[in-house]
Amino acid sequence: MIEVTDLHKSFGANQVLRGVSLRVEKGTTFVILGGSGSGKTVLMKHVIGLLRPDKGSVRVAGVDITGLEGKELTEARRMFGMVFQKSALFDSMTVLENVAFPLREKDRSLSTRDLRERVIAKLKVVDLAENVLPLYPSELSGGMQKRVALARAIIHEPPVVLYDEPTTGLDPITTDYVDEMIVQAKERLGVTSMVISHDIASSFKVADRLAVLYDGAIAAQGTPEEVRRSEHPHVKKFLSLWFEKQ
Ligand SMILES: Nc1ncnc2c1ncn2[C@@H]1O[C@H](COP(=O)(O)OP(=O)(O)O)[C@@H](O)[C@H]1O
Ligand SMILES: [Mg+2]
Repeated sequence: MIEVTDLHKSFGANQVLRGVSLRVEKGTTFVILGGSGSGKTVLMKHVIGLLRPDKGSVRVAGVDITGLEGKELTEARRMFGMVFQKSALFDSMTVLENVAFPLREKDRSLSTRDLRERVIAKLKVVDLAENVLPLYPSELSGGMQKRVALARAIIHEPPVVLYDEPTTGLDPITTDYVDEMIVQAKERLGVTSMVISHDIASSFKVADRLAVLYDGAIAAQGTPEEVRRSEHPHVKKFLSLWFEKQ
């Protein structure tokens, strides 16, 4: 579903990506694990065509994103739903208005009733009931805000969902809740997911496959078990931060 090949990107003298390659199979969850500033967001921005590589390519569902512009790029971006670190909900809008927002933008002819029904269907996918529709984000718990953010990300039924640091800054219980949500989204919707994280425990819980990004390249890649057994010195050190505590 997603194929990144030999991606290179520098900002001035700062070489952020130096030849990143990875493949995400349809219907699976792929996690990019890496420390702060390792280039995770830069990589994600290439996947959605927000940044252009100096070298290399990104193909999504067979489409080369790197060469697209204007209308074609806008069209290609519909393949993605995005969930950010901050839920990025609109504070002054209700849950109904927040989740309906992308649909309303895309198709202004949809009736209020249609919108409402579609929103309720997506809330159900994320285990939220109709009673949250009139609430404002500030009236929801952190975990519920994430679920609303995911409902909004999937309202247009994208084949791919991208999560940028979905658990950063959350308490352990909310983190578990969000991990569970990512697994459910895969199981219930069959979506392909890419999760960017520096949270080792969460990454190992949600990943079918994962890659550790270090020094602009992939230091280890495979199933969680394979990555855990990696002999790469940085990967061993990075993972020991968490596994030693277990
Ligand atoms: N638009 C930009 N212009 C210049 N430098 C950038 C830009 N975006 C990111 N960087 C640099 O790229 C590096 C990786 O950033 P980022 O991908 O955001 O890291 P993270 O892994 O924490 O998401 C950092 O050194 C950052 O300063
Ligand atoms: Mg980032």
